[in-house]
Amino acid sequence: MTAGEDRPVLTAHVTVASDPIGAIDRRLFGGFVEHLGRHVYDGIYEPGHPSADADGFRQDVIQLVKELGVTTIRYPGGNFVSGFRWEDSVGPRAERPRRLDLAWHSTETNEVGLHEFAGWLEKVGSELMLAVNLGTRGVTEALDLLEYTNIPGGTTTSELRRANGRDEPFDVRMWCLGNEMDGPWQLGHRSAEDYGKIAGMTAKAMRQLDPDLELVVCGSSARDMPTFGAWERTVLAHTYDDVDYISCHAYYSEREGDRASFLASGVDMDLFIEEVVAAADEVGAARGSDKRIRISFDEWNIWYIDRYHDEDKATGIGNWPIAPRILEDRYSVLDAVVFGSLMISLIKHADRVTSASLAQLVNVIAPIMTEPGGPAWRQTTFFPFATTSRLARGEAVRLELDVPGYETARYGTVPLVDAVATRDAEAGASAVFLVNRSQTDAVELRVDAATLGASRVVSAVTLTDDDLDAANTLEQPDRIGLAPNASAALADGTLTIVLPPVSWTAVELA
Ligand code: AHR
Repeated sequence: MTAGEDRPVLTAHVTVASDPIGAIDRRLFGGFVEHLGRHVYDGIYEPGHPSADADGFRQDVIQLVKELGVTTIRYPGGNFVSGFRWEDSVGPRAERPRRLDLAWHSTETNEVGLHEFAGWLEKVGSELMLAVNLGTRGVTEALDLLEYTNIPGGTTTSELRRANGRDEPFDVRMWCLGNEMDGPWQLGHRSAEDYGKIAGMTAKAMRQLDPDLELVVCGSSARDMPTFGAWERTVLAHTYDDVDYISCHAYYSEREGDRASFLASGVDMDLFIEEVVAAADEVGAARGSDKRIRISFDEWNIWYIDRYHDEDKATGIGNWPIAPRILEDRYSVLDAVVFGSLMISLIKHADRVTSASLAQLVNVIAPIMTEPGGPAWRQTTFFPFATTSRLARGEAVRLELDVPGYETARYGTVPLVDAVATRDAEAGASAVFLVNRSQTDAVELRVDAATLGASRVVSAVTLTDDDLDAANTLEQPDRIGLAPNASAALADGTLTIVLPPVSWTAVELA
């Protein structure tokens, strides 16, 4: 027991590794906007809203997106992209077609398209990352889109962009070659062999147009897909020389009341990343290649997918709603703690995961919620994301934790605490991110902070609550936030901090 605490406190030592893991790419703090539910319409775009700007975008949402600190935003899907015709989304709005969105059984009005979305990204200060449709379309349409976005002018397609009001190219650097092509739910789903071939052809063709693109080939849409592993090896065998990244997607949720396993979701994410790295390196070794494929973890989040399957979704040949309320998960304190631990996992692999996209951003499994005509608010998951994006700068630093383990049904024995540090030598700043997965015990950590070059605690904040189900809602938008962690102290090169049970913490050091 520690003085002043009425709960048992376990103590643990943390050693800071001297070798950095790698530089943290700012793209690790990316997001994802899909034309899905109320994400675009009645989410970021609501022309009748009191806070809407001249372009119809909600400025309260823009402010929150800025505060969240999302760097690169993947667009326009997701499953949506596999049926999307990009040409529908450009040109005079009144002439844009209304289309069936088969992925989400909705109507897409195309009122917001490429130009409008790029304009919104300028307002929020994020980079555009595009996905091409390799579900129902192929090489030609991908090339047309690339010509439209990246060629300055002088050709029919690039001049069309200029005629549509955008003189300068969009100059999109990062491109996804389709979406979740391993999933039977995907329009145009195909085998690894077939997808590898079309992805390879598309990548080669796109590079002929613009050699400096950064291309992401689809990996598995979950670690428990039956084709996981074999998919990566086959797809990369066809694309290794022509792509830079392979994608990972992962969604976690508390299943059947197994809270202990849910709290250990970061273990699954760690294994997923390490297995994909191993598969990619195996392909590289077999080819005698020095090139290393990086990971774009371009969909990750907490998602109660079973709730989506139970939702009152539109069905039937005559019912295709616009912007239906679907996938509007409400995130609890517990969810946010696990979410924070997933960010720790991403940073722990900063040497190979150099891009990631939180799926998604507004209303749809999102850190930001809105009500039509009403307020916008931060979900619990907003806080770990915004804080980590703000503080995790420079290079990632491994922490060796001497902590007890606990038993989980899914992952066996798992350490009670997970953590990572970051160090920005130029700015003279460092940070430590910690999660306590214990449901009963606080943990007092002693971190050897001298290796981090730190001599002062600037701030320490913790996300926790006695009610782990508590959430921020329309009625109570500020119920949950970060609270200062007064236990944090740095003396004689040692940072001491107490982590409450089921909590996520960030410590800013100077
Ligand atoms: O993010 C929601 C959906 O999850 C995406 O559209 C799809 O790529 C994934 O299955």
